[in-house]
Amino acid sequence: MSAAIGQNRPMARIVLPAEPLRDGPTALRGWRETDIDALVEACRDPEVVRWTRVPDRYGVSDARAYLLQRYDGLETGFAAPFAIVRADDLEHLLGSISLMRLEWRHLRAEVGYWLAPEARGAGHATRAVGLICRWGFESLGLERVELFAATTNPLSQGVAERSGFRREAVLRSYMTGKGERHDMVAFGLLASEA
Ligand SMILES: CC(C)(COP(=O)(O)OP(=O)(O)OC[C@H]1O[C@@H](n2cnc3c(N)ncnc32)[C@H](O)[C@@H]1OP(=O)(O)O)[C@@H](O)C(=O)NCCC(=O)NCCS
Repeated sequence: MSAAIGQNRPMARIVLPAEPLRDGPTALRGWRETDIDALVEACRDPEVVRWTRVPDRYGVSDARAYLLQRYDGLETGFAAPFAIVRADDLEHLLGSISLMRLEWRHLRAEVGYWLAPEARGAGHATRAVGLICRWGFESLGLERVELFAATTNPLSQGVAERSGFRREAVLRSYMTGKGERHDMVAFGLLASEA
């Protein structure tokens, strides 16, 4: 990681770990061109569309654009996107997780994630959040990670709670979702708590 910690440098380049991050059956690695078909299929799930910024009627061109955008995020130091994959089959895509909106001056970032429908209910999101937060604290030098989940999205709130995040506030009418405004629960995890 070549970011200058503690300075508000817009061009702080992020380098993802050379080896996948692993916890039991869950691993995180950089995105690959070979993920496109599984990415498209997962992003057509209505729950992913409902709760994330993934556009409706997701197609191959959206997936290609996402894979290109990830370079921008890394180069400019504003995002660190990972694919969530099976630890025993690194080609098998389970979901997506990113550290986003990195604020270098304040040493903080936001975590966002989704799982493909068939990957839910097995703890992959909880382990993925733990892995990306530990990496953010240890390798990027972050002091705080934030997580925002709609008040009406208990499954995402469950991920935050199982991952050790503290519920800090409810932010009213905070985001425009797909056709509705969302009140968001703001969660925070500090480096000293991870
Ligand atoms: C939010 C989302 C990622 C949560 O997925 P999830 O599978 O419920 O979360 P986890 O992977 O942490 O799995 C937790 C479930 O597995 C169970 N589980 C099994 N083994 C587990 C383990 N070792 N560790 C943790 N949980 C385990 C838990 O009991 C829980 O099931 P329950 O809800 O029936 O109690 C998923 O619903 C999703 O992708 N939704 C659409 C997109 C979205 O909402 N993104 C978040 C926007 S803020």
